Amino acid sequence: MKNIAVFTSGGDSPGMNPCLRAVYKAGVNFGFEVYGIMGGYEGIIDGDFVLLNEEKVWGISSRGGTILRSARSDRFRTKEGRAKAYQNLKKANIDAIIAIGGDGTFTGATVFMNEYPDIKMVGCPGTIDNDLVGTDFTIGYDTAINTVVEAVDKIRDTANSHNRLFFVEVMGRDAGLIALRAGISAEADAILVPELTGEPNQLIDLLRTKENKQTSYIVVVAEGDERGGAKAVAEKIKKELPQFDTKITILGHIQRGGSPTAMERFRAAWMGAEAVKALMENVHGVMIGIVDNKIKRTPFSKAIKHHNSINADMVDIMQLLSVVM
Ligand code: F6P
Repeated sequence: MKNIAVFTSGGDSPGMNPCLRAVYKAGVNFGFEVYGIMGGYEGIIDGDFVLLNEEKVWGISSRGGTILRSARSDRFRTKEGRAKAYQNLKKANIDAIIAIGGDGTFTGATVFMNEYPDIKMVGCPGTIDNDLVGTDFTIGYDTAINTVVEAVDKIRDTANSHNRLFFVEVMGRDAGLIALRAGISAEADAILVPELTGEPNQLIDLLRTKENKQTSYIVVVAEGDERGGAKAVAEKIKKELPQFDTKITILGHIQRGGSPTAMERFRAAWMGAEAVKALMENVHGVMIGIVDNKIKRTPFSKAIKHHNSINADMVDIMQLLSVVM
């Protein structure tokens, strides 16, 4: 191995920059030339490679998003797309790649490595959703839940002033980990997650009994919630309790932006450097994660197949603090 490359793929997440910077720093220290691939898998197909240097990665840890840009690539799902990607990598003498992304990224990596086994790939978990097994925290999750908490705190100010009931929808695709951790931290009255399927009646009872005792109520709803997300849940509740002044806020993509928290940067940098170390040890086809404050290497197949789901014991205890359903 002489040249290695790094790219970011799928939904961008805060912390991707410190991760790719760490790949560069560790790579150079191990004696490699380190290339950045622009725009995820699309950039491999287009041969959009940039030789990284100190200047390019200097000071990027505080920046959200990704300097390498990101994409969800349809072309890489095709055999022709992957064949083109392989030719470009060979031309540039790149045979080892670090992919920073989520399960879609690692699914693509697995298919590619099966077709072209001379390309070695290692992954770092980059997604705000925290839905990958093999790591306690994905890159972006900590910053995203801090953003949600800050937003809900602000919503509460206006909710209190007007005695309102707010439904706040958060991201997470089909995982409720953003909703649960941010909801508890922001003192949400109720948290709706896709992993649980209780009837909204529980929420209606809560609001009925609490009526007039509290000035405002906050319900955090995960976007993947099977009861239909914030809008659908709010409509159901409004029918039962028309006396409530109900509002809906969909936080959307602000959850993906912003300067990464200190822990985010640290974990991202640690995983980035460890990814290069794994390549040095000829270990590939794995995602680097942190479990119990130790580095763990999980085969892509496992990281993709099993979703990191909400811990049932945690939910039980959280029920003492908020209605989690
Ligand atoms: O996977 C990260 C994520 O932000 C999800 O939480 C969300 O459902 C999705 O990406 C949104 O994707 P896009 O930016 O393509 O709309």
